[in-house]
Amino acid sequence: MGPVVFSGAQPTGQLTLGNFLGALRNWVAMQASHDCIFCIVDLHALTVRQDPKELRERSLELAALYLACGIDPAKSTVFIQSHVPAHAELAWLLSTFTQMGELERMTQFKDKAQRHRQNVNAGLFTYPVLMAADILLYQTEKVPVGEDQKQHLELTRDIAVRFNGLYGQIFKIPEPMIAADGARVKDLQEPSKKMSKSAESELARVMILDDPKEVVKKFKKAVTDGLNQICFDEENQPGVTNLLDIWCVVTGHSKEEALAHFSHNQYGRLKMETGEVVAAALSPVREEFARLRREEGYLDSILRQGALQARQRAGRTLADAYRVVGLPPLPGGDS
Ligand code: TRP
Repeated sequence: MGPVVFSGAQPTGQLTLGNFLGALRNWVAMQASHDCIFCIVDLHALTVRQDPKELRERSLELAALYLACGIDPAKSTVFIQSHVPAHAELAWLLSTFTQMGELERMTQFKDKAQRHRQNVNAGLFTYPVLMAADILLYQTEKVPVGEDQKQHLELTRDIAVRFNGLYGQIFKIPEPMIAADGARVKDLQEPSKKMSKSAESELARVMILDDPKEVVKKFKKAVTDGLNQICFDEENQPGVTNLLDIWCVVTGHSKEEALAHFSHNQYGRLKMETGEVVAAALSPVREEFARLRREEGYLDSILRQGALQARQRAGRTLADAYRVVGLPPLPGGDS
């Protein structure tokens, strides 16, 4: 089956072109050679106040989107975090092996605490411990994540090493896989920033489910510069460089090929063509997504099967961890 890979995304907001090129496409490719587990982390989403109906809807949508992008449930395990109680259970255990000081140093916590001042809840603080539990439950070897999650991965490793040092080899020590290509898709309006689903301007971000016309429109309005030369120069021409990067990732062409292709130095054509290749790449995903959302029974069966598989695997690690710290097994055994 190959090395175990675990990754997850929160069912909040819609996913962007950046998520597609930087994460989902790599997940899909990894399925051929790895034992992949892809999770919809709805418990993590609760750390910010959610509308219940919306949260439920978004979780199912995200599952459909995973499949529409090419995650194959025959090869990979796809499930919703709250369907596997072991995540919350291991998180509790691991929280007793995590220091307050370590959590206080997490930059994401500091950021979010700033942005949600009226709701700095304890779950927001212990968010990285739940993430550690997600990863460690499956003896995960590799965790594909964006640069912004690197610190959480390091904490996960520290917790695992600490626990193993006290009790023996209970957890595999996971390695981060920081996506290189496409992970750097920038905001179309402020190209010095990462493309984010929370960007203020609609024009700044392309969503995976945008229709082709919208995609092309957003690219046409992308911010460039007044230099009228098409080259890779992140510092002086972040907008043009972003368009070139996107064109390369989507078409599979090299930088040299891109420069030759766009040697006419016409920004209008660069924007138009990039918009068109992106629209063409997203179209099949959008259509498959619409089909899956109509087939609710199918999606339900995938999520049920994924959760049952995940429960089995996670249950083994949780039982081992409980045993070694001295929690007594249920007399007579489980079930
Ligand atoms: N914190 C991650 C994010 O915001 C989501 C996540 C939760 C995750 N658990 C995970 C990612 C486990 C990888 C592995 O992107």
